[in-house]
Amino acid sequence: MKALLTGGAGYIGSHTAVALLAEGFEVTIVDNLANSSRVAVNRIESLTGRNTVFHEVSLLDASAITAILCDEVPDVVIHFAGLKSVAESVDHPLDYYRTNVAGTLNLLDAMVASGVRSLVFSSSATVYGEPVRLPIDETSPITDAANPYGRTKLHIERMLQDLGAADPDWNIALLRYFNPVGAHESGEIGEDPNGIPNNLLPYVCQFAVGKQDRLVVFGNDYPTPDGTCLRDYVHVTDLASGHLAALRFLNDEKPGVACFNLGTGKASSVIEVIHAFERASGLALAYDIGPRRSGDVPASYTNPDKARLQLGWTAVKTLDDICQDAWRWQCRNPDGYVA
Ligand code: NAD
Ligand code: WQD
Repeated sequence: MKALLTGGAGYIGSHTAVALLAEGFEVTIVDNLANSSRVAVNRIESLTGRNTVFHEVSLLDASAITAILCDEVPDVVIHFAGLKSVAESVDHPLDYYRTNVAGTLNLLDAMVASGVRSLVFSSSATVYGEPVRLPIDETSPITDAANPYGRTKLHIERMLQDLGAADPDWNIALLRYFNPVGAHESGEIGEDPNGIPNNLLPYVCQFAVGKQDRLVVFGNDYPTPDGTCLRDYVHVTDLASGHLAALRFLNDEKPGVACFNLGTGKASSVIEVIHAFERASGLALAYDIGPRRSGDVPASYTNPDKARLQLGWTAVKTLDDICQDAWRWQCRNPDGYVA
């Protein structure tokens, strides 16, 4: 089986590439390295002892993408590529619509041209907006997302639903990730954010090694047990195995378009994450309580039953595993993927 991964040099894509190669898949990666490094691809190969085919190409180059798909004709495409910063999407919405929505359209045109009809798409729990009930399951209403990044995910999901409705040959899994965190247990691949990290775990890692001056908890007056926001932190290698489960499901069940929440079902507060990180690192982290961050929802966590029952997938790693692996990655790669 051959899988083509757009964005396969990135954080979730690189971990999924390792899992696919370990299962015997052939892997082709298409990535313009806008938010990743060629070093990540080298590490994927050295970790698995397998080669990949790597194309440094943007999804916005429609003719190049079509040529690659027609040449490679993979059995399945896993579509990770895109821009993912909520704050940046507010300041530069057109970049987000262009890369995420128009880039996906180019990819779908290339799939049509090459006869490839099997797709796994990286969606996000952000499509649930402010959840109307907890835990969130796949029947929870899809409301308007809170920011342009989230809206690109909504538009792409709708585009894929329309495509599946128009042509029953398509089989598409929409995977709505909750909060992906952690790193490969080897410490060889992990998350390598550009600039100041937006997300909690990468920020805590950088604070712990002194690369950030101050750790601020954004609000402790939420209606939660300790007043800080609750999230469903899912280990990135669990997510990677979720993609393998989705591929098996598409292949065996030919479901048309199906969506799955990928999360643990457990809710952890910001303070609990900081304490887990302290246990993993052996460091005491002095944090301040600051104001709420605009756009944060008080709580977001999944009901993981659909993925368990239909994909046979369950996240197995704990918050302690997550923090230990994130810390190992940070210590071994203090400056990320330096070439
Ligand atoms: P990432 O930035 O590490 O990976 C995305 C990859 O896409 C990068 O390697 C980047 O270079 C590449 N890319 C960007 N624009 C491209 C273009 N025009 N052409 C080709 N490649 C391009 O992000 P990630 O965390 O691995 O996320 C993967 C996917 O999962 C994204 O679609 C993201 O929106 C989605 N997602 C991520 C999270 C999260 O918190 N990490 C949560 C939910 C959903
Ligand atoms: C987690 C909690 C913060 C940093 C984001 C995107 C979402 C999805 C995943 C892609 C929140 C708090 C954070 C800090 C803090 N991405 N925090 N101090 O916001 O749940 O989700 O990433 O689809 O779309 O919005 O994750 O890691 O940014 O924040 O107190 O320095 O940590 O307020 O409660 P979030 P996060």
